Amino acid sequence: MSGPRILAIESSCDETGVAVVVDGRRIEANQVATQVALHAATGGIVPEVAARQQLRWIIPTLEAALAEAGAGWDDIDAVAVTYGPGLIGSLLVGVNVAKALAVAHDLPLVGVNHIEGHIYANWLTDVDAGAPLPGDPPFPLLCLVVSGGHTQLVLMHDHGRYTLLGQTIDDAAGEAFDKVGRLLGLPYPGGPAISAAAHNAAPATRFPRARTSGAYDFSFSGLKTAVLREVEGHRARNEPIPVDGIAAAFEEAVVDALASKTVAAALDHGVAAVAIGGGVAANRALRATLEERVTRHGVTLLVPPPAWCTDNGAMIGAAAGFRFAAGDRAEASLEAIPNLALPWLRT
Ligand code: KG4
Ligand code: ZN
Repeated sequence: MSGPRILAIESSCDETGVAVVVDGRRIEANQVATQVALHAATGGIVPEVAARQQLRWIIPTLEAALAEAGAGWDDIDAVAVTYGPGLIGSLLVGVNVAKALAVAHDLPLVGVNHIEGHIYANWLTDVDAGAPLPGDPPFPLLCLVVSGGHTQLVLMHDHGRYTLLGQTIDDAAGEAFDKVGRLLGLPYPGGPAISAAAHNAAPATRFPRARTSGAYDFSFSGLKTAVLREVEGHRARNEPIPVDGIAAAFEEAVVDALASKTVAAALDHGVAAVAIGGGVAANRALRATLEERVTRHGVTLLVPPPAWCTDNGAMIGAAAGFRFAAGDRAEASLEAIPNLALPWLRT
């Protein structure tokens, strides 16, 4: 017996993802069409352009996913879709296509929060790719969600039950990578570009770590300003800008802030495991530092493969599998909600 087979759609930003996931865990197809090259030309995402590209790619990606899974509509038990948070124009494409598919094929609809999707990437396995994970993550689970729009430390008590321990008080980690990438003249998106540049060099300086009033909160806007000052200093002195060294110093400061607060939260809450998710979780320096600092305390670190950290449909299919099993169904009137939050438990 296997659990439900869900066709899942992710269109919240600039990736068009469609996946087929069984039982909230097993990937049968995971197709992602990315707009990175297009947005590189403008140095960032233009929401109107992103929405039009979602419209352009959603049907071809859907068809590719069904072909990859070798599945027809008779094999699908439900349609799942990200309904927020994200860019409204992009979200609307996925939500409306999912609603139409559910009606046309008489299938239940499941609405998924994008952040919950990033967390559930930790439940995914891909036996075909030779990457089965060692079983389901244990509860309570500490989750570090680091994406272009969010930076949150979340304590997950059980499926669908979350407490927000802390979050950024200004820029998200990915946003900081993207803005600093632009300051350094690196191509969009800044995250992978900074990671590559930093890999070549020792830190050129040491940027200050931000202090926040909340023990598990983050702040990255001061760091961005410090990078700007560093760049301007070199310019004023007519010196070449040590781009790789500044990238390394910036990455070190971000990784240090993320890792130290994550370790503190893990120890304070006595979790057996820490899970990471979101595009910045693809960062190799962050993965290596967390691996070292988290496991030092006998706590397990769960690290999805990079392709499951950046936006994709499989993570939405994973979250939807557990929501579906719990009886969660969306109304046919499901709406896109750009600022959707997780349903936090009160602390
Ligand atoms: O989760 P995601 O694909 O989309 C959002 O939900 O926002 O995250 C995108 C963010 C971008 O800011 C990108 O620069 C960052 O993740 N990112 C990285 C890396 N790969 C993607 N940041 C640092 N290092 C990376 N290797
Ligand atoms: Zn994301």
